[in-house]
Amino acid sequence: MSWIVLKFGGTSVSQRRRWENIAKLIRERHADGARVVTVVSAMSGVTDLLKSIATGAMSSAQAHVVTGAIIARHRDFAIELGLDPQILRERETALTVIVDDPVAGASNFAWAAELQAQGELLSSTLGAHFLRSLGLEVVWLDARDCLRAVEQAHQTEWARYCSALCHTHPNAALASELAETGRVFLTQGFIARLPSGATALLGRGGSDTSASYFGALLGAERVEIWTDVPGMFSANPKLVPDARLLRRLDYDEAQEIATTGAKVLHPRAIGPVREARVPLWIKDTERPPMEGTIIGPEVPASIPSVKAISLRSGVTLVSMESIGMWQQVGFLADVFAIFKNHGLSVDLIGSAETNVTVSLDPSDNLLDSQALELLCADLAKVCRVKVIAPCAAVTLVGRGMRAMMYRLSEILAEIGARRVHLVSQSSNNLNLTFVIDESDADGVVQNLHALLVRARLTGVDGDPVFGPAWNRLTQPSADVPAPWWAAARASLIAQAEDHTPVYVYAASVIAQRAQQLKSIIGVDQHFYAIKANPHPEILRLLFNQGYGMECVSAGELEHVRAVLPEITSDRILFTPNFAARGEYALAFAMGVRVTVDNVALFGQWPGLFVGREILLRFDLGRGLGHHDKVKTGGDRAKFGIALADAALVRMSAQSAGATVIGLHAHLGSGILEAEHWKRVYADLASLAEQFPTVRVLDIGGGFGVPQETEQGALDIAALGQALAEVRRLYPRFEVWIEPGRFLVAEAGVLLARVSQIKHKNGVRFIGLDAGMHSLLRPALYDAWHEIRNLTRFEDAADGHWQVVGPICESSDVLGRDRALPASFEGDVFLIADAGAYGASMASRYNTRPLPLEVMRDDL
Ligand code: LLP
Repeated sequence: MSWIVLKFGGTSVSQRRRWENIAKLIRERHADGARVVTVVSAMSGVTDLLKSIATGAMSSAQAHVVTGAIIARHRDFAIELGLDPQILRERETALTVIVDDPVAGASNFAWAAELQAQGELLSSTLGAHFLRSLGLEVVWLDARDCLRAVEQAHQTEWARYCSALCHTHPNAALASELAETGRVFLTQGFIARLPSGATALLGRGGSDTSASYFGALLGAERVEIWTDVPGMFSANPKLVPDARLLRRLDYDEAQEIATTGAKVLHPRAIGPVREARVPLWIKDTERPPMEGTIIGPEVPASIPSVKAISLRSGVTLVSMESIGMWQQVGFLADVFAIFKNHGLSVDLIGSAETNVTVSLDPSDNLLDSQALELLCADLAKVCRVKVIAPCAAVTLVGRGMRAMMYRLSEILAEIGARRVHLVSQSSNNLNLTFVIDESDADGVVQNLHALLVRARLTGVDGDPVFGPAWNRLTQPSADVPAPWWAAARASLIAQAEDHTPVYVYAASVIAQRAQQLKSIIGVDQHFYAIKANPHPEILRLLFNQGYGMECVSAGELEHVRAVLPEITSDRILFTPNFAARGEYALAFAMGVRVTVDNVALFGQWPGLFVGREILLRFDLGRGLGHHDKVKTGGDRAKFGIALADAALVRMSAQSAGATVIGLHAHLGSGILEAEHWKRVYADLASLAEQFPTVRVLDIGGGFGVPQETEQGALDIAALGQALAEVRRLYPRFEVWIEPGRFLVAEAGVLLARVSQIKHKNGVRFIGLDAGMHSLLRPALYDAWHEIRNLTRFEDAADGHWQVVGPICESSDVLGRDRALPASFEGDVFLIADAGAYGASMASRYNTRPLPLEVMRDDL
C-alpha cells in the first residue's frame, strides 16, 4: 500500500485556480497507484483573525464582527467554487458556539486552540466539496482522529494546547483503517487531539508538521509540501536574489536550515519524517515541474560546502554570572532547572569559568516581557542575570563545518566587524552561529552570501546540491544570452594557432557597451577609464563613440595624446592618487582636467594651482566593489578627501588660487546595484552647496559586469531612471561618468593552450600557458572567470579540475573546481570576460613574455 501526503498552505486554498491544481496533482498521484492524503491550511488570513479573537481582548460585539467576516469570506468563496454555501452551515454553527463560549478569556488556551482550529475545518470542508464536484471521490478526515498529541511533564499550558507534539510511530492500524474507507483523503493541518479529547494546535506553520506526521504514521512513499517558493535556498532569496536552490539535503541539514531561519518549512516538520525515513519534497505550486528541494536519507556526495546562511531576529540572550562557578558542582543543573520550570527552551549555550550565556529563540518560546521578568527573578536567586536583547543570530549551515573553518577567514572578518555577543559551534558539526545586536544585522546576510559565493563555498559548477539562483528561476526573461565567443569558436581556435597566450577583443561588443552607457539620460559627459585596457584600437573606437579619456598617470596621459592626437584637452581627465608633483605639472601644462584628492597639496605645492580650474575627489565614507581590494572609500582607503575636511579644502584651494569647478567620487569597482550612482550623485550634490563655483559632478566608474553566471547584470534602464530622479532635484549640475570595466570586460577573452595535465592524490590539474602573469584577477581578487575548452566545446564535463598556470606561485590558479571535459596537451582554452584589467595588469614575472593582444573588427 503506497501513500503520498500532499500539503497546501493558505494561499493555495484561497483561489479556485489553485484548488483545480490541487485536484490535478491528486489525480496524477492517484493514477500512479498511490493513496493520497492532502493536508490543507486555513484560507489565508483566517488564522490571524481567529487568533485576534483568541487573545480574549475583544469585546463580544467585536468578536462577532470578526466572526461574521470569516463566515462571509467562506460563503463567498463557496459561491466562487460553484458550491451551495449551505454546506458550511454546521461549521459556522460550531464557530459561533465557540466564540460565544462563556469560558472565553485571556488565559484559556484550551478555548483558544478550539477556536483557532476552525479555520482548517472550514477550508477543508469547502475543499472536500469542491474536489467531489470535480469528480474526485474524496473522504473528509478529521485530523484530530489521527494525530495524537503527547502531554509532557513541565509543559506550559500554552505549549500543551498551542504548540503540541504528536506521536510519530508508524501506525499500521491507522493505515489499514483508512485504506478501507477510501483512496483519496482531505484533512486539516495544524490540529491534533490531546488524550483528554481536547483540541491541540501544532504551533505556527503547523500544517507542514501535520503533513510530516501523516507521512510518518502511514510510512508514506513521500511527503510533498507545496508552497510559493521552489524550495530551500542558500539564503533568504528576498534578501539575496542570487541565493542558490538547494536540490538535495539530508534531514539534519534541512533541520538546521529550517531551525535557523528559513521560513519555507517549519522546523518541526522534519523530525517525524526523519524518524520514519520518509523523503520530504518541497515543491512550488506555480511551477509544478520544477524539481524543488528533496530532503531525504540519501544525499549525493558533494564537496564540503556551506549550504545556507540564515538570520533569526528577536533572539534574547540571558547572561548568568556566578562568582566562582568553577568547581561549584551543580551550578549548570540549577540554572537549567529554572529554565525548565519556566517552560523555556534554551537554544545556544556559551560558557566560561564564571559565566554561562544562553539564547532563547522566539519561535520555540512564548517569550513576552512578563515571562522574561519571572525567569530573571528566579535566576537572580542563584546568579547575577543580564538580558541582552534584541539580538540576531547569524548561522552558517553545512555538514562538516569544522573542516571548512580554514576557508572562512573572510566570513569571520565580516562578522567580526560587528559586536559579537556569542559564538557557538554546534556539536553535530552542522552549524556555526554568531549572535550580534539586531541593529547590526542589516546587510549581513547579503555580504556573507557574496563572500561565500566568492570563496566557492556555495558549490561548484554541476554540483548535485546547488541548483540555479533564485533570480534565474523567477525571471526567465533575465536569461543571459549566449556569450559572443560561443559562436566565434572556430575563428578563435584559428587565432590561437598563431600564438598563445593571446587576448582577443571583439570590437562590436565594445561598441555595443559604449552605446548602452551613452543611452543613459542624465549623463552629460562620458570618459573611459583607460587603466581597464589602454589598447590603442580600443581608445580609438571609444573616442569615435564620443568618449573622453580618464587617466591616472603621466604615462597614461602621454599614451592618450600619442594614440589620439586630435583629442582636445577638455576631453581628458587626470584623476591620480599619490602621483608625483611633476605628473600634475605635466597635466596642467597639457591643459587637461585635474582632480585633486589630498588637501595638503595646496599648501605644499602652492605655485602649481594658481589660476587653475580643478575637481576635488571626496571619500564619501564608504567603499563598494566586487572585492575588498577594489573598494576605494572609508577611513583606511588611501583615496579622496574626508568629508570632514570640506571647509578646509575649500579654503586651501582658494588660497592656492584654484577654482573648484567639480566634485568627484569613485567608491570602488564592479558594482551591480543601479542605486549606487544615484546615492553618489545626491551626496555630491548636497556637498556642492559648500562649493559655490562647482558646476560638474563626476560620479565615477565602477559599473560592474556579472562576475558569476548566477549574478544579475547591472540594470542600465534602472540606473538611468535613478539618475533622472536626482537630476530633477539638482538640475544645475553637469554629470560625468568614467567607466572602465563595463565597456571592455566582456569584449575580451584570453586564449591559452594546455601545457600539461596532472593527477595528484585524486586532485586533477589542467596546466595552461597563461597564468597569473597573463591574468592576475583570480590570484589577486579570487575573481571568477568562465573557463572553457574550445577544442572540446561540446564534450560533457568529466569531473572537476583545477585550472592553473606555469608561474612558481601557489596562487597561480585561474579557476578552481571547474567542471570541464577531459583535456589534452595542445587544447585551446578560453578565459572569458578578460577584456578589463587583463592585459593591462599582466606582468613579465618569471621572465615570461607578455600576452599578445588582437583587436578583431570582424567579431
Ligand atoms: N575612476 C577611478 C577614479 C578609478 O579609480 C577607476 C578604477 C575607475 C574610474 C574605473 O573603474 P571601473 O569602471 O573599471 O570599475 N583591477 C581591478 C579594478 C580596479 C579599478 C581601479 N580603479 C579589477 O580587476 O577588478
